[in-house]
Amino acid sequence: MSKQQLIIFDTTLRDGEQSPGAAMTQDEKVRIALALERLKVDVIEAGFAIASPGDFAAVQAVAREVRESIVCSLARTNVADIQRAAEALQPARRKRIHTFIATSPIHMEMKLRMSPEAVLESAIGAVKLARTLSDDVEFSAEDAVRSDMDFLCRVFEAVIKAGATTINVPDTVGYSVPAQWGERMRSLIERVPNSHKAVWSTHCHNDLGMAVANSLAAVMNGARQVECTINGLGERAGNASLEEIVMSVKTRQDVFDVETRIDATQIVPCSRLVSAITGYPVQPNKAVVGANAFAHESGIHQDGVIKHRQTYEIMRAEDVGWGSNKLTLGKLSGRAAFRKRLEELGHRFRSEGELAEAFARFKDLADKKHEIFDEDLQMLVTQADQARSAEPITLVSMEALSKTGTRPVAKVALSVDGQVKEVQAQGDGPVDAVFAAIEKLVVSKSRLLLYSVNNITTGTDAQGEVTVRLARDGRIVNGLGADTDIVIASAKAYINAINRLDAPGERAHPQREFEPTP
Ligand code: KIV
Ligand code: ZN
Repeated sequence: MSKQQLIIFDTTLRDGEQSPGAAMTQDEKVRIALALERLKVDVIEAGFAIASPGDFAAVQAVAREVRESIVCSLARTNVADIQRAAEALQPARRKRIHTFIATSPIHMEMKLRMSPEAVLESAIGAVKLARTLSDDVEFSAEDAVRSDMDFLCRVFEAVIKAGATTINVPDTVGYSVPAQWGERMRSLIERVPNSHKAVWSTHCHNDLGMAVANSLAAVMNGARQVECTINGLGERAGNASLEEIVMSVKTRQDVFDVETRIDATQIVPCSRLVSAITGYPVQPNKAVVGANAFAHESGIHQDGVIKHRQTYEIMRAEDVGWGSNKLTLGKLSGRAAFRKRLEELGHRFRSEGELAEAFARFKDLADKKHEIFDEDLQMLVTQADQARSAEPITLVSMEALSKTGTRPVAKVALSVDGQVKEVQAQGDGPVDAVFAAIEKLVVSKSRLLLYSVNNITTGTDAQGEVTVRLARDGRIVNGLGADTDIVIASAKAYINAINRLDAPGERAHPQREFEPTP
């Protein structure tokens, strides 16, 4: 007997984007959406259309580009949110409106300041309205984990009657444990009289490190949709990670009575792309997509794997896309090969000029690094996108001197709004000296929250990928830079972060504000 399908709902572009500093541009969101489509994700939550004009445009652009996956926008249970979501989704071939309201006593009393009856009415009204605009409507009871079961059952029964086709049960605060979460899902499906008319879904946060375990417990108890993100990105400690959910179900077919449509060979390329765009590095020991996930260090393990791979490996690295980044291009590759490979990676050039500019960057890189991998190409396109967004501050030149016994010194020239300025500064190391020089020139008054360097590929000629996270006046941004020289990569990342800090970008946050249904 064939198994039931587990719907994979990816919310990297919405909940994932709520991670500090992970805000993405419209182009970046489209690139990730196309990668998710290649991964064969069933539903892509592209954003929260009413949050800002930028969010609206991004949802609309994703709706225009994606053809196979369902494109979804989040909306609170008020008229304006739902209409805006429907408007942004208008170009989609397959669309979903996802409306939500909190149902726990603490959220209703302290945040919404609404009575349970008013919440129930708002939910019903929202679903009815959404159904006039889309046949596919999801309803989420925010903070379901701390909601009263009787009230949850009433709300879910009423919204299914009003037309909701998917019912999502979120552990918004990452509070549950697997046995309890599985039991909650089972009991909701049993107690809600019309439960068979909707698909049951779960959405778990990772505050206690149990998001994946809780989601899988829900699946074992009847959930047929899991909401998750690439690399587990998301609000606070993140969401359930897509790659862990998918590979658990695939690897343990003996215990799961469901299967997914996901093309697992796209997992690692997609993880790399999300990491490069958001500036969130993947920890080396992260399951499935971490650099060490398939590395065997101990002699006993190495010996076992050589004799028989399955002694220590439950999955094959190549099945999740490791190694699919084979050496692709070199110094002698032509423009057509370059374009073809980037198109295979989901990137579309909008003009010949854009292609020419990216190709020039590729030739520059090929002069410094003779083997170019897919990750290099993806980073190159990310940098070309950054350059095109007309950043007011750009690096003109820099030199950093570090010598034993002397304090490192850096000389940096920047173009600030078209004017070139140069300065020199000292620091505890060459990177510190470069940052001090940049700070002297631009006086960003920001606080450095994170500085991290990763190799994009292996080898000493690999490009270093630097993430710089800066904070100012409550705003947090990630800047990204890559170069074969990590001090230059650091300077680029710092400048990119300052430009992002200065860019306008106030946006609403779905879980923070609420305007009651008029
Ligand atoms: O965590 C949460 O409750 C959410 C909802 C909007 C689904 O993200
Ligand atoms: Zn969430």
